[in-house]
Amino acid sequence: MADVKLRDIRVVFKEESDPAAMIFGQSGKTPDDEKSDIVGQANYRDGRIHAIDGVDLDIKNGESIAILGPSGCGKSTMLRVVAGLIMLDAPNQGEIEYGEEDWTRMNAKERRVGIVFQNYALYPHMHSKKNLGFFFKMHKREEEVDERVEIVSKMMGVGFDQLLDRRPKALSGGQQQRVAIARCIVRDPTVFLFDEPLSNLDAKLRTRTRVEIKRLLRRFNITTVYVTHDQTEAQAMGDRIAVMQAGTIQQLGTYREIYDNPANMFVAGFVGAPPMNLIAGKADNGGVHVDGHFFNLRNESLMNSSGDPVYLGVRPEDVNLFHEQAPDSVPVDIYWVEDHYSEQRKEVTFDLGGTRVIAKRPLDEEWDRNATVFVTIPSDKAYVFSADESRLV
Ligand SMILES: Nc1ncnc2c1ncn2[C@@H]1O[C@H](COP(=O)(O)OP(=O)(O)OP(=O)(O)O)[C@@H](O)[C@H]1O
Ligand SMILES: [Mg+2]
Repeated sequence: MADVKLRDIRVVFKEESDPAAMIFGQSGKTPDDEKSDIVGQANYRDGRIHAIDGVDLDIKNGESIAILGPSGCGKSTMLRVVAGLIMLDAPNQGEIEYGEEDWTRMNAKERRVGIVFQNYALYPHMHSKKNLGFFFKMHKREEEVDERVEIVSKMMGVGFDQLLDRRPKALSGGQQQRVAIARCIVRDPTVFLFDEPLSNLDAKLRTRTRVEIKRLLRRFNITTVYVTHDQTEAQAMGDRIAVMQAGTIQQLGTYREIYDNPANMFVAGFVGAPPMNLIAGKADNGGVHVDGHFFNLRNESLMNSSGDPVYLGVRPEDVNLFHEQAPDSVPVDIYWVEDHYSEQRKEVTFDLGGTRVIAKRPLDEEWDRNATVFVTIPSDKAYVFSADESRLV
């Protein structure tokens, strides 16, 4: 086991790539859908898609990195680079190392990574045990199969051995995914790669399988890259999370770091459920003007910016609401109120400067639809981003 180092990775696709090569894209989109998305995309330049646009990433031995980002940002492409399914020959570029080994020119087979995709991709006509052993049969190492399968079944935990003599069609989605994971582990991979492995499962099974995968990774200290567009999953699976946008990593850190201290407006507006409110305004006199009202943040760094366009950011749980006018409060009209009983919260939505803002309030508070109420934003909970979306405060 060793660290994985990615250096200045760049992957470009021509618009007219072979659609067959896109089977790894997990978005469920047809090539035509993909194409209509492409133009206007941030990483579309000179007739090419810069799917990975200069990525550096160090993955420590035994660490699990979650790659989180919206559809089309390059998550699967990153995974394919690590796997060796996309090589870094021109026009692509970059270097990849696994400990002392230079993986840059090494093919997928030699890298011995294990990959689990959204669609389990088990061999349909083989029962689970054969699925697990197929690799060894191919490599004329059949004598190892029994012992390895036995070890892995124990690792996979209760009930796994009962799946061994069934074919994929006699297994539920979750069970197929367990077999697919076992098939990876049995080969003792250098690095474990997951591409949205749980998206086909129902919510309950997703949570359960997630716990099982994470327990396995922890127990065996397997270096992992886990791709998802679901931040709950990223939080659960990743020791650190790389937030991607348009082929670049916008921030790398624990969920907590990313949540409390987002590097820029994209990260702020992507993380959190619902994510941070971002309200257009103008910086002035230590605070932000929004729609004729002033949010006084008493912030030094906003003292000298007279009227620069900015975005005022605040997490839904940090928005204060009052029935009566309060110091520094701004009047707003409630647009909608929604109860979230299981969280013992309600979400109160109102308009501010043309932005729909959400406040998360305790369930027992009374807020009437259409009422005028008063909002404050605590200055220590406020974020400010410049017009180019970089972080100011
Ligand atoms: N073979 C290909 N040919 C041309 N363009 C491609 C190819 N594969 C991916 N792309 C483009 O590269 C970009 C990144 O794709 P990728 O599949 O890595 O996205 P993703 O983050 O995994 O998205 P999703 O969440 O939808 O799976 C997209 O714009 C996609 O359209
Ligand atoms: Mg994908």
